[in-house]
Amino acid sequence: MTRVFSGIQPTGELHLGNYLGAIRNWTRLQHETDAIFCVVDLHAITVPKTPGQVGHDSLRLAQLLIAAGLDPEVCTLFVQSHVREHTEGGWLMQCSVSFGELSRMTQFKDKSDQHDFISAGLFTYPALQAADILLYDTDEVPVGEDQRQHIEITRDIAERFNSRYGETFVLPKAVVPRAGARVMDLQRPDAKMSKSLDSPKGTVGLLDDPKQIAKKIKSAVTDNDGEVRFDFAEKPGVSNLLSILGAATDQDPAALADSYEQYGQLKVDTADAVVALLEPLQARFRELEGDPAETARLLKVGADKARTVAAPVLARAKGNIGLLAD
Ligand code: TYM
Repeated sequence: MTRVFSGIQPTGELHLGNYLGAIRNWTRLQHETDAIFCVVDLHAITVPKTPGQVGHDSLRLAQLLIAAGLDPEVCTLFVQSHVREHTEGGWLMQCSVSFGELSRMTQFKDKSDQHDFISAGLFTYPALQAADILLYDTDEVPVGEDQRQHIEITRDIAERFNSRYGETFVLPKAVVPRAGARVMDLQRPDAKMSKSLDSPKGTVGLLDDPKQIAKKIKSAVTDNDGEVRFDFAEKPGVSNLLSILGAATDQDPAALADSYEQYGQLKVDTADAVVALLEPLQARFRELEGDPAETARLLKVGADKARTVAAPVLARAKGNIGLLAD
């Protein structure tokens, strides 16, 4: 069966981009594949955090993922720091990637511009991500468009390792959704929707109040020519709305454009579709929030399952390098 692995950082509240670009596909894939999903808390500490914050955010994120439809009885859901193989594997990956390759990563360039303290971990981040993926003999990595480069470097690392030490890792491929792979900020449609942009009016949080969601979508920036057309280069604001509506209702954004004559109706329909999509998720989240011990229990089961896959793959990698057996 196809093995799927993906990860998500516990940083602040999730937004519509995370949902349409990744999580929604995970909920489908868990029924079709052998699927493993990880709350990547060790990636989140590549930027400074206040004590306790990451643990709190990790639990909340796990609850949100379950509320969104991940079923820990069907897929494997766990927290990265609970499976030590990730850090150990991360070191092996750091030794199989070059300084030059890491210097070309756009996520590093973007993030290092936003912080005064640039940790070494932020720079070597893709090596840890490669370990996440390769430790599970992953075939497919369902992600949004912004993660393509990290999956490419993971393949390069795996190929290099395999050619140095013999066949060890499976080469994974990125799977990016047709619609929703790159949800843009509603106020700045030239930038992807992101927590770190600090654009509260342009970012739809998954737990935003439905009225707030509708208001944000209805005040999305469009343009002055009045024509509804799917064309990201010329009409980024309108195209972003079409692509959100398309992703939310499983329709083709370009075909949807033909059914609209004006922006007003497009905004109303997009707002309605997003609210309808998120309301059930929000209701389930409120229920789960009341029982953190149950979520913690589910995450422990997930970590135990994850370890049974990751440990032998790590042992295989160390064996192929020829480290002295302990
Ligand atoms: P992260 O936590 O930033 O995002 C989680 C997922 O959400 C997608 N995404 C978007 N999709 C569409 N439009 C957007 N505006 C948008 N913003 C975010 C991301 O593409 C991602 O799929 N490095 C990864 C986490 C990671 C990982 C992994 C992923 C660590 N190890 C192993 C896959 C496999 C990250 O920072 O994602």
